[in-house]
Amino acid sequence: MLDRVRQDPRWILLVLRGYLGFTFVYAGLSKVGGRSFFDSSAPGSLQATLLAVRAHSPIGGLLGPVEHHSFAFGLLIAAGETAVGTGTLLGLWARVAALGGTLISLSLFLTVSWDATPWYTGADIVYLFAFTPLLLGGAGPLSLDAWLALRRDRESGAGARDADVNRRVLVTGLAALGALIALGAAGLARLGSSAARTATAGGRASDRGAAVPATSSPSSTSGAGLLAASAVPVGGATEVADPQSGDPMYVLQLRPGVFTGLDAICPHQGCTVSFVSAAAGFVCPCHLSTFDSSGAVTQGPAAVGLATIPVSLSGNEIVRT
Ligand code: FES
Repeated sequence: MLDRVRQDPRWILLVLRGYLGFTFVYAGLSKVGGRSFFDSSAPGSLQATLLAVRAHSPIGGLLGPVEHHSFAFGLLIAAGETAVGTGTLLGLWARVAALGGTLISLSLFLTVSWDATPWYTGADIVYLFAFTPLLLGGAGPLSLDAWLALRRDRESGAGARDADVNRRVLVTGLAALGALIALGAAGLARLGSSAARTATAGGRASDRGAAVPATSSPSSTSGAGLLAASAVPVGGATEVADPQSGDPMYVLQLRPGVFTGLDAICPHQGCTVSFVSAAAGFVCPCHLSTFDSSGAVTQGPAAVGLATIPVSLSGNEIVRT
């Protein structure tokens, strides 16, 4: 193998193609096969993610129309990732696949990873640059592109090299493609049954997660005023500045007249989380940790939940106690 690399350094691209191809195929198929990506009431859904990143992204203004067609857009992302991964793995139209991978990574960098601190800890910028060798140099050896080029050479009488190797690539590639199509079909079937379950559940989604223990109750406690009680919708949350730390925090009213306070700073690396809904809770735009409406972590990388901030009702005002 080392001899081959010495003769043609493009053999090194096989490692990159293997990792990028597998990752993108997995990312695409797991979105279609997973239950939460298309379920707008789930904290990890595409809609929740769009809501979380819109305010922080430099292209947030472009996401409005996407939000309204999130199902179609989600399918497009999943199909795009699967196509990029398949093309990269098989080395078929590898430059086109690499261009697609670059564009997907760029859009994720400008949205999901934009708030990563420090900036180089976001994965998407790494993927963006990882595609550049394939974009510039093509797939290299052991690829359908190489086999097709060889066949063209043969037909034009320019001679053949490594014909057996490339024939094996074609057979293996077609077998892999068949397996991917079968996996995709299984994922779509699973999505269909998941969508049916969601439809059966109907409007009950908005009621899920409402049973959060009250940490405050109507009283006349003195403290720093936060906002008028009427500014916090029932079943919703309002972001304010914590008068003690100056950091953002949320005041929630999950049940009429019962107010709770939560720190809006993600315990993972300090980004500001976004409130999605009473059922879906909070999403952090930086690395997509999710929290339920009580602040408990429901998906990492955050290891702990959002800190509780004591609040209470004083007259018509919510105060920090
Ligand atoms: S800062 Fe990393 S998940 Fe929130």
